[in-house]
Amino acid sequence: MPTSPWYHKTSIYQIYPRSFYDSNGDGIGDIQGIIQKLDYVKQLGFETIWCSPFFASPQADSGYDISNYTDIAPEYDASSDALQLIEEVHKRGMRIVFDMVMNHTSIEHSWFEESRSSRDNPKADWYLWRDSPLPKLGEGLGVRGKPNNWQSMTGGSGWHYVQERNQYYWASFLPFQPDLNYRNPEVKRTMLDTVRFWLGKGVDGFRLDIFNVIFKDAEFRDNPFSFKFLPTETDPSAFFQEAKYTINQPESYEFARELRSVCDEFGEKLLLGEVSGGRSVIRKFMGAQKNDGLTLVFDFEMMNFEFTADYFRELIQSIETYFPNPFMPVYVFSNHDRARSIRRLGNDVRKAKMLHLLQLTVRGVPCMYYGEEIGMTNLKLPFAAALDPIPHKFKSIPRFIFDLLGMTINRDEVRTPMQWDASRNAGFSSAEKTWLPVNPNYETINVESEDKNDGSLLDAIRALLKIRSEHTALRGGSLELIDGLPDDVLGYRRRSEEEEISVLLNFGKSEKHFQFKSEDCIFRLSEQDDWKNGEIKLSGYGGMIPRDCFSQA
Ligand code: NOJ
Repeated sequence: MPTSPWYHKTSIYQIYPRSFYDSNGDGIGDIQGIIQKLDYVKQLGFETIWCSPFFASPQADSGYDISNYTDIAPEYDASSDALQLIEEVHKRGMRIVFDMVMNHTSIEHSWFEESRSSRDNPKADWYLWRDSPLPKLGEGLGVRGKPNNWQSMTGGSGWHYVQERNQYYWASFLPFQPDLNYRNPEVKRTMLDTVRFWLGKGVDGFRLDIFNVIFKDAEFRDNPFSFKFLPTETDPSAFFQEAKYTINQPESYEFARELRSVCDEFGEKLLLGEVSGGRSVIRKFMGAQKNDGLTLVFDFEMMNFEFTADYFRELIQSIETYFPNPFMPVYVFSNHDRARSIRRLGNDVRKAKMLHLLQLTVRGVPCMYYGEEIGMTNLKLPFAAALDPIPHKFKSIPRFIFDLLGMTINRDEVRTPMQWDASRNAGFSSAEKTWLPVNPNYETINVESEDKNDGSLLDAIRALLKIRSEHTALRGGSLELIDGLPDDVLGYRRRSEEEEISVLLNFGKSEKHFQFKSEDCIFRLSEQDDWKNGEIKLSGYGGMIPRDCFSQA
């Protein structure tokens, strides 16, 4: 059997640099701070670190608006610190991926400043510029005068007027994030060279921001009408418009393969795509037939999980159908844009342990956002004071509507400083004021206290990552669902050439007893989860990795 690449067997920990650890007391996390906490990530057991962007940026979208791809923003330290970070990660036997925002730059990038200055400068065609057409009869007010009817991903027209050119530029996300024009060969070459630049410095790959909007329709055709108002993970159409010509264009799938071949020049590199549109779209970005495109792609549909055995059984079945070997799925339940996963669990730590037991033992690469390992929660913050630009865009809609829909619109709420200990500022910073407030629950929810507590979430995650690293069945083995288990109980068996391992999870509140041959147990969520004489007892929200009689583990 051919050996699978490292990035299919790894586990990923997402660091949000601004909130991880502040080494110089200015209230903002920095690269030296990350370096100081690398041993923590190593001991926790994650093998790969993904850092959200720390490149030069006016920070209008917390670094997802880049003004120079090879410079580091001064508040995060300097380029030499980024190189030191790569080296320190590698010294510890881990890998590191940077965040590559290829679709757009900041309006403050010198490329855009040049491009917007006239219609005939050397970078005039580096962004998507269009004239305003004469208004047509019957056009809606919102689109009058705009080059076409396209809506941005955040709602409203994505066309923005610039006086100097008497033209509009296109921005898929927010107005200060103009999209680059990938049909211009010079743009494509420059961005691929940026990728080569960092690969040459030793990074192990990239997380790719909104990769599925890189190409837009060459003819700028109007998008068709849709009844849909809000985007969903499986269908990005929204704001009464089908995203037919703005998202998931065939050229973007092709570009995924081109990017992969550039990375292949440097060996096995991880390309982790941010894509929406459902599993068949994800599969196309991975290279539908041969997995010669992006090496991994987030599957955001599962962020809206329901905490039931049926939901996860169906999820696993669907994922196994769409992503059989040599494809590898990613299991992700939160990130810097979405609610903390424990929020969907009513902040119940027992359920969080189960969720992560599943995440760390199914067939797939687990990707965990910082703080999830201690059960950090959303911090409710007023929209008006948000640093995140998104809530300002929706300030006319009362907050309770988003709450009812379960949407986290103010992303500051999930980006609060890491809670290291019970000291001031949760041990994150010595500053008077941190860039975002620390969640007041840091006195109980923090690394130091959970580290000392054998039954903590942190303890369970660390133990599970250790087990994962020791068992080939869990890292790369096949997966088969186990039939005939009681209601509310989900079970699956992982199998490699060397061993077989079963995982059993009780999504119900009540205790379950059932026949299951087991001689021992590799892991259990609570001491109430037990095995005896061929019978398993799982407590409410219990979970277990029995060493069943087929196993040679
Ligand atoms: C997706 C990123 O995850 C998000 O934080 C950012 O605001 C947008 N892309 C735009 O870059």
